[in-house]
Amino acid sequence: MCGIVGYIGKQKNIKIGLDALKRLEYRGYDSAGMAVYNQEKKRVDLVRSVGRVANLEAKLEGMGLEGSPFLFYTRWATHGAATEENCHPHRDCKDSMFVVHNGIIENYLELKERLVANGHEFRSETDTEVIPHLLEEFFTGNLEEAVRKVVPLLRGAFALAVISRDDPQKLVAVRFSAPLLIGVAEGEYLVASDPSAVVTHTDKVIYLEDREIAVLTPLGFAIEDFSRRAIEKAMSTIDWNVQDAQKGGYEHFMLKEIMEHPESITNALRGRLNTEEGLALLGGLDAHKETMRGMERVQVLACGSAYLVGRAGEYMLEECAGMPVEVDTASEFRYRKQAFDSKTLSVFISQSGETADTIAALKEVKEKGGFALGVVNVVGSTVARGVDAGVYAHSGPEIAVAATKSITGQLAVMALLSLFLGRQRQMSLDAGKQIARELASLPDLAKKILETGEHIRGIAEKYKTCRNFFVIGRKYSLPVAFEGALKLKEVAYVHAEAFGGGELKHGSLALIDEGFPTIAVVPSDSVYEKMISNIQEIRARKGPVIAIATEGNDAIGQFADDVMYIPKTLEMLSPVLSVIPLQLFAYYAGVLRGCDVDKPKNIAKSVTVE
Ligand code: F6R
Repeated sequence: MCGIVGYIGKQKNIKIGLDALKRLEYRGYDSAGMAVYNQEKKRVDLVRSVGRVANLEAKLEGMGLEGSPFLFYTRWATHGAATEENCHPHRDCKDSMFVVHNGIIENYLELKERLVANGHEFRSETDTEVIPHLLEEFFTGNLEEAVRKVVPLLRGAFALAVISRDDPQKLVAVRFSAPLLIGVAEGEYLVASDPSAVVTHTDKVIYLEDREIAVLTPLGFAIEDFSRRAIEKAMSTIDWNVQDAQKGGYEHFMLKEIMEHPESITNALRGRLNTEEGLALLGGLDAHKETMRGMERVQVLACGSAYLVGRAGEYMLEECAGMPVEVDTASEFRYRKQAFDSKTLSVFISQSGETADTIAALKEVKEKGGFALGVVNVVGSTVARGVDAGVYAHSGPEIAVAATKSITGQLAVMALLSLFLGRQRQMSLDAGKQIARELASLPDLAKKILETGEHIRGIAEKYKTCRNFFVIGRKYSLPVAFEGALKLKEVAYVHAEAFGGGELKHGSLALIDEGFPTIAVVPSDSVYEKMISNIQEIRARKGPVIAIATEGNDAIGQFADDVMYIPKTLEMLSPVLSVIPLQLFAYYAGVLRGCDVDKPKNIAKSVTVE
């Protein structure tokens, strides 16, 4: 997830691009760059810097750059660390083609090999750089013609904006599985990743759809699809104010990030599933396949929500790969006498990759010669750099303090890892195919849950004065219950405790009465009947029950006061869906209770102390 801005038109003021970029900073903030066509010198000037957009702004100060067209970019690294050379815009060997890209080019390695064999010299470690070099190969004087020839060669997801020194009165924009729009003003046009970038300049936008190419000049624009059919597009009017803009029109980052679950799951799965062969294709493990085959057990180390993802992964790995799994909080790990050896795979899960406790546990494992695998979101972070192999979650930046979309990304990666290890061991082709197919359908199923947000808000309204909750689940739903309780404490400041459904009767049931609700995570799975018995125990003591149940289970209405539904999926994948209504419930409970949901009191996003 990165932020793209492009401009072409009557003005030469690059500040337009800089201001637009600042409002896209939530999309990435490890480095930023720009390129502007300098008409006098007939060249494109390129400036990039590591860190926030403010660093780029400081670098541009006093350089006196101006011109049109220009590109701006804020990066969220996917390939290669946050360095100037890895930051966009990227260029070809002749400094003619300049490209900004949001997304991932899955086949960049094979394209790069071909280009290098043809004599192209690469200056970055990114997947994106293949694009300007390909454009260089196909350019014969007309930029959009070259773009049309390059686009069919790219696999993956991309929103592109391209300018060229040798066809300078054009800006070409392409959308395929990554967002892009055109902001339309009098005699000037912007392209951007989302409306927040253009909102101070114009309220008129045209949203590009997948497989569309727009060619913009100072005099107007034309849009075609990939098969060169001209497309007439309707203009939309943005009705937000500037403050709303960065949050994409949502009231809070937390809600925006919850709404990004489908994208987070899609990104975690992109290019990693072979549904025909029932395989997980994990590039980060390619070089370690034999090491993985020799592993006999797994230990997962992480903190907070990431630890709870590990607990769900425990069930997945045990079921799919038949390997014994131990999950520990990274903060406690070092105090135990450790029983791992060279046949133990140590998995570190971390959104930020900067959590001090997780880093300390990683050091301990490395000190003892263990093999470490990272499931990390932030590319180039300390954990990502410290592990022997990794599978990035690619969830994009998470701004709200509470983990939301990163959790579904991590869960999807844990399912992929389970499939990978399972297929190396006893898992059958059919079972692998079924998991791969079900994984691929998760983004659409997550979308269906998000459509029920208003219903969940209504339930949160009903229970907003309750100061105590139990959250219960069994098997795959037990870590989900813990995650739900954590989220309620964190963003709604209410006491919430999670239990295995069978545990309440061993003591805690004493607290249940009419004013003490329990959320029961009870999808239609192998422990459903047992959970119903546990719910009955609560109902017998007059405790209100809110159920998270599988769509089509109308009977649950007899046992629960309120129901939030999730679509049907494989039991092992149910956590990816059931965390979503719990996050929405906690979010609305927090908002209705007047809490600062994006920045809860007393806690920080990246916990860099032990
Ligand atoms: C809870 C939450 C925290 C983090 C934990 C680990 O909503 O955000 O519990 O999950 O601090 O952080 P990372 O994943 O960055 O290591």
